[in-house]
Amino acid sequence: MDRQNSKLGNQTAMVKAYGGALVLVDAVVLLLKILYYIGESIYRFFVPLEEKSVAGEIVLITGAGHGIGRELALRYASLGATVVCWDLNPQGNEETVNEIKKLGGTAAHAYQCDVSNREQVRETAERVKQEVGNVTILVNNAGIMPCHAFLDHTPEEIRKIFDINVLAHFWMLQAFLPSMIDKNHGHIVALSSMAGLLGIANLVPYCASKFAVRGLMESLSEELRCTASGRNMNIKFTTIYPYMVDTGLCKKPKIRFPSIMALVPPQEAAAEIIRAQRRDYTEVSIPSIWLSVNTSLRNLPEKSLIQVKDFFDSGVEAC
Ligand SMILES: NC(=O)c1ccc[n+]([C@@H]2O[C@H](COP(=O)([O-])OP(=O)(O)OC[C@H]3O[C@@H](n4cnc5c(N)ncnc54)[C@H](O)[C@@H]3O)[C@@H](O)[C@H]2O)c1
Ligand SMILES: *[C@@H]1O[C@H](CO)[C@@H](O)[C@H](O)[C@H]1NC(C)=O
Ligand SMILES: *[C@@H]1O[C@H](CO)[C@@H](O)[C@H](O)[C@H]1NC(C)=O
Repeated sequence: MDRQNSKLGNQTAMVKAYGGALVLVDAVVLLLKILYYIGESIYRFFVPLEEKSVAGEIVLITGAGHGIGRELALRYASLGATVVCWDLNPQGNEETVNEIKKLGGTAAHAYQCDVSNREQVRETAERVKQEVGNVTILVNNAGIMPCHAFLDHTPEEIRKIFDINVLAHFWMLQAFLPSMIDKNHGHIVALSSMAGLLGIANLVPYCASKFAVRGLMESLSEELRCTASGRNMNIKFTTIYPYMVDTGLCKKPKIRFPSIMALVPPQEAAAEIIRAQRRDYTEVSIPSIWLSVNTSLRNLPEKSLIQVKDFFDSGVEAC
């Protein structure tokens, strides 16, 4: 009896030691991988990834009738992609498609759709699948930006901001992600904003909606990565944080140093977004410096951060 017990005890001790050794090996491998990828990212900083081709891809852009969305449509078309333009405003959208055709593009299609209306999104998506094919790059770009003091926002307006800037992304993803998952091929691009990096006065619901976009993109990409275990997940996610872009969306910008913090031309914003998508970047700001500025400044003590904000004294005025 006693001898059997001590034998069992020896065995458990051995199992434990073995288990411990395995964890140790895992931890060492983890450390090596972390170092490897730090090395890789330093290398990639100097030698960026080649931009993958978008020729033959079907790109759907929401809010393609104006501003950044229009510039994205023109540029994707010039790169040989089939472009599917969605907008609430049919005139602007037709203008975008006509401009593409004038420049010699043939594969451009306009659809009127209110992306905050789930039923309309479902129906229009069905038409796109029949008439054009399966979307492989989805750019969730449509957005609105009312600026008022918090208590001056009506409940209807707050809901509308979330319906367009956040919930529409869900309806679009529900419509277009399944065929991407089927083929394990696709790319989701979402427009967040500087207002998704830091809180800005007169933009409380807008900021909240743009922070939400980040949560949506990060968690969805993580979920697909986990469920794709075994095969290489080939659906990419890119979240964009633009500084103010000169489209008229931002009615009353307030900038203390306009010479170094000028509004970004929409053509430039579109070029940066497409470059980030083609290089499979997860997150980029436009200009690119802002993401690093966020990371460093937010590690300062809160009171120092407030001093920096007051020095730059920039944002938007209520309108
Ligand atoms: N302009 C900026 O300063 C700036 C900065 C950071 C982020 N962004 C983001 O970039 C995106 C595009 O901004 P923009 O400046 O090009 O805006 P814009 O107002 O110039 O164009 C937006 C387009 O979206 C369309 N749209 C609005 N609601 C819609 C709906 N419910 N369904 C379908 N289409 C709809 C509009 O008709 C318009 O054509 C937005 O998400 C915005 O929040 C803009
Ligand atoms: C689109 O994708 C669906 C599901 O993945 C597939 O059944 C269908 O054949 C595809 N259509 C085209 C035109 O490739
Ligand atoms: C901004 O910086 C903070 C602090 O470093 C970090 O936690 C956060 O993830 C950053 N935001 C983005 C979008 O990178």
